[in-house]
Amino acid sequence: MSFTFRNFPAARDDLRADVLAGLAARPKSIPPKYFYDEAGCRLFESICAQPEYVLCRAEQALMAHYMADMATAIGEVDAIIEPGAGDCSKVRRLIDTLRPAHLVVLDIAGAPLAAAAEGVARDYPRLAVTALGMDFIRDLEAAASWLPAGRRLIYYPGSSIGNFAPAAAAALLARFRRLAGEQGCLLIGFDLKKDPQHLHAAYNDAAGVTAAFNLNLLVRLNRELDADFDPALFRHYAYYNPVEGRIEMHLASLAEQDVHIAGERFHFALGETLHTEHSYKFRGDEFSALARTSGWQPAGEWTHDGFAAQLYR
Ligand code: AVJ
Repeated sequence: MSFTFRNFPAARDDLRADVLAGLAARPKSIPPKYFYDEAGCRLFESICAQPEYVLCRAEQALMAHYMADMATAIGEVDAIIEPGAGDCSKVRRLIDTLRPAHLVVLDIAGAPLAAAAEGVARDYPRLAVTALGMDFIRDLEAAASWLPAGRRLIYYPGSSIGNFAPAAAAALLARFRRLAGEQGCLLIGFDLKKDPQHLHAAYNDAAGVTAAFNLNLLVRLNRELDADFDPALFRHYAYYNPVEGRIEMHLASLAEQDVHIAGERFHFALGETLHTEHSYKFRGDEFSALARTSGWQPAGEWTHDGFAAQLYR
C-alpha cells in the first residue's frame, strides 16, 4: 500500500480574513467553502439523503449507467486528480474502471480527507494515493509538484463548480487546464437548469437539513472566531434566481442586531441577509461555452435525471 498525506498550512487565518472581509462587504457574504467543518460535512451527507435533493442520487445513477461509455471516451489515464474529494466515495468507481497507477485527492478538510484516502489506499494496494489537505481554490498550483508524470484526468464531480460565478468558474477551469497538462482531460459534473419549483424544494427540504447546514456556519464562526451569533435570530433563506440561473442561499437577520466576530462589531438591519452560497445551474451548451473559454475542448456529455457530466480534453 502506498499512501502520502500532506497538510498545507491554511485554515484559521484565512477563515478570519475572509469572514471579516465578507462581513464588511455589501451585501454581506461568506464563501461557501467554509460550510464544511466536521458538522457541515455530516449535514451535507444528510442533505444528499433528503427526498427533495435529487442531485447526489442523480449523479450516482448517471455514473452507474454510463461508466463504461465514459471510460471508452476517456481512454488510458495514469493519474486521477480530484479536487474537493471529501470522503473519496465517488472516485472509487472511476478507479475500478480506469485502473490508474496514481490517485491525488485534495480537500480543504484535511483530517477527514486523510482518513478517507488512507481507506482507498488500503482497498487498492497497487494504487499510489496522495492526499493533500489544502484550500485548492487558493493553493491549487501547489499541488502541481505532487502530480505524477503521464496522462492526468481531473475529476470534479458533484456540481461544486456551481458555487462559482461564471467568471470565477472560468478562471478555475483554466487553472484545471494548466494542472491537467497537454494530454490531460477533465470529467466534470453539474446540475442542469430545471423546473424552478423543484430547485426551490431541493434547497428548502421539509426536514430542515439544508437550513441546519446553512445555520451551522454561524455555529462554526462562534466556535472558531469567537463570534456571538445567535442562530435563533437568523433564518435560512434560499430561492432560485431565474435571471442569474442560480440558487442563492442567505441567512436573514430576524432582528436589528449587532454581532461581534474576532473582536470586531457588525450591524445587521432587520431582514438584512448574509449571503452564504450561490449554486449555479447550467444548460449543457451553456457549460461547454464556459469551458471552451478556459481552453477545454468538449469530448463527451452524459445526462441523467437533471444532472450532467461532461468530458473535456
Ligand atoms: C456541494 C455545492 C454541489 O450547491 O447543491 C447543498 C451544496 N448547498 N445544499 C449545492 C449545497 C445546499 C451543493 N454543492
